[in-house]
Amino acid sequence: MTPNESPSMPQGLDRGMTSYGDLGFSRFLRRAFLAAAGFDGEDLNRPVIGIANLTSDYNPCHRDMPALIDAVRRGVLEAGGLPFVFPTISLGESFLTPTSMLYRNLLALETEELITAQPMDAAVLLGGCDKTVPAQLMAAASVDVPVILEVTGSMITSAWRGEQLGACTDCRRFWARYRAGDLNQAEIEEVGVNLATTAGTCMVMGTASTMASVTEVLGMMLPGGASPPAPSGDRLRHGVATGRRAVELARSPILAKQVLTRGAFENALRVLAALGGSTNAVVHLLAVARRAGVDIVLDDFDRLAREIPLLVDLKPSGQGYMEDFHQAGGVPKLLKALSTELDTTQIGLSGVSLADQLANTAGPHPTQKTIRVLTDPVGPPGALAVLRGSLAPDGAVIKVSAATSSLLTHVGPALVFESPEDAARRLDDPELDVTADHVLVLRNAGPIASGMPEAGSLPIPKRLAATGITDMVRVSDARMSGTSYGTVVLHCCPESAAGGPLAFVKDGDLISLDVPNRKIDLLVNDDELAKRRLEFQPPKVAARGWRRLHETTVLQANEGADLNFL
Ligand code: FES
Repeated sequence: MTPNESPSMPQGLDRGMTSYGDLGFSRFLRRAFLAAAGFDGEDLNRPVIGIANLTSDYNPCHRDMPALIDAVRRGVLEAGGLPFVFPTISLGESFLTPTSMLYRNLLALETEELITAQPMDAAVLLGGCDKTVPAQLMAAASVDVPVILEVTGSMITSAWRGEQLGACTDCRRFWARYRAGDLNQAEIEEVGVNLATTAGTCMVMGTASTMASVTEVLGMMLPGGASPPAPSGDRLRHGVATGRRAVELARSPILAKQVLTRGAFENALRVLAALGGSTNAVVHLLAVARRAGVDIVLDDFDRLAREIPLLVDLKPSGQGYMEDFHQAGGVPKLLKALSTELDTTQIGLSGVSLADQLANTAGPHPTQKTIRVLTDPVGPPGALAVLRGSLAPDGAVIKVSAATSSLLTHVGPALVFESPEDAARRLDDPELDVTADHVLVLRNAGPIASGMPEAGSLPIPKRLAATGITDMVRVSDARMSGTSYGTVVLHCCPESAAGGPLAFVKDGDLISLDVPNRKIDLLVNDDELAKRRLEFQPPKVAARGWRRLHETTVLQANEGADLNFL
């Protein structure tokens, strides 16, 4: 085709011409620059596969992404496509202040816009670290281009003094021991260089592993993609297969909107329960469902979790690591174990129904203990619970499988922290008036106030930790890391900055937690609460930039904390 010929349905690099008011000139100019980049007519007749590159020195979890991009690129070329790699922002969990969550929606927005604005017939989105995969799913659900996801894979574990270690449940466990005086400075530093020793994402069932797993269940990743570790050949071969499949999707498009059905989400929610997965997945899946136009609500998580026992023995709910999950067969084996509970009519981007996929999958092997069957679970149903009550009228979340069972029913006096900074300042004060019965309350840590940081699992006050206290009831409008554990009530809605009841708690007020009855209540009478409500001052809005846009448009956690116009 010459630059002056205009195809009826523009494909590949003829899609989405730059507007100069002269289509022929737009094509001519684009092709001139492509020629400068070494492309000829043979290249330009191929379907174009955009590949999102989230490599960044600020994101060590993505350190091996360049090799994975090469694998995807090879798959695209083998299938007759033309790979075009493009960068997006990369969100490294521990490198963003106040929290990577503040930027999830920015990555989702950027990814959506770049897929739409740049010419591509399909896209492969490579993610990994916690917020990247949710943002990419949100973008995928918002565009009319086929999008398939691939993840970097998890790290491999290491050891310290003979004990197997992995990020980041063990990061928190050893840090708690250090705070309690059980490890000295030299020992905690030795632990620090043995927690994360390869490229890849956190190797427990934290947010990254959870989101990779539910992405596979949703059908937005090829089967078997969630668990191969980052340094493995399995991971690279899965990348190659994803590249090949992207070309097929370019030729016979299947859009995320067709894959992300209510049935797919319900399957994902069941698997989330069986995994003892991260509470962060609740916020992320609500956001993706909203983008996909699927009416999934907070109570669906509780309802489905009540039906599904904990089947996967991975930290923080159990003992193993992602490499154990992979060796046991990963998500496909888990789906087989759960098959009687799933909607197997679902068809993901592989184009194969779940029923057909499972027909060729054997159940978990009886010699391994990481993936269990329904008749021999790791734990009872209800790994995740949704609470409501006078402290969280629109809902709150607790990871029951990572909590202390004796604290699941508890009444205690509140000790209130105004913000994560206030908690950091005062928690280790030797004069802090706190007992193990107190309920630690953290506010101003919701989506509006501070982007919803993972500050909810407040550390046990040093004074109590030194006496052997390892868990207390904690309540907040924050999130917590998927690698955390403890009796931690999260995502209280509405958040305090939006005038939710958390804003009105005072030191000494009694708080009642009743997980069996799904209740979280502030035991203060209505008249007193009404009086306190009159004194409420909403926080000042940021003056400019992304933070202002976010604060003025972000939805509450029970709606996915997306921006209200997306
Ligand atoms: Fe990147 Fe845990 S810090 S996945």
